[in-house]
Amino acid sequence: MLDAARDAADFAYAPFSGFSVGSAVRTSTGELLTGCNVENSSYGLTICAERVAVFRAVAMGARSITAIAIFTRTSEPSTPCGACRQVLAEFAGDDLPVYLGGDTDEVLLTTLGALLPRAFRLDHEA
Ligand code: THU
Repeated sequence: MLDAARDAADFAYAPFSGFSVGSAVRTSTGELLTGCNVENSSYGLTICAERVAVFRAVAMGARSITAIAIFTRTSEPSTPCGACRQVLAEFAGDDLPVYLGGDTDEVLLTTLGALLPRAFRLDHEA
């Protein structure tokens, strides 16, 4: 999954920050969807790589994500922003594995619950 996230980072549109991010999410039906960050001249319209991948999966019919990999072109792996953690919490449980990779061979494995303790969720019918 980190290989797919690394490949997706090549498509990042990040002319303002120069910070390329790629992500890949696995759905409960086994599909793998990738995303990259897409920046905008109106900075606030920028969307992170993680949300692109999650929203692609949802738009394909997925409602449950079983793993995510995030790749950044940094010497140390970077963690997802708060907004992306909350979006992940909509489609995954606290035990979601989160694989983090950067420009070295170091891979960090954490969980959504560790990154976003006591996530806000509303009960709803599927
Ligand atoms: N970014 C992501 O794609 N994911 C994150 O979790 C943090 C930030 C992007 C947004 C922006 O294009 C650039 O990284 C710098 O913030």
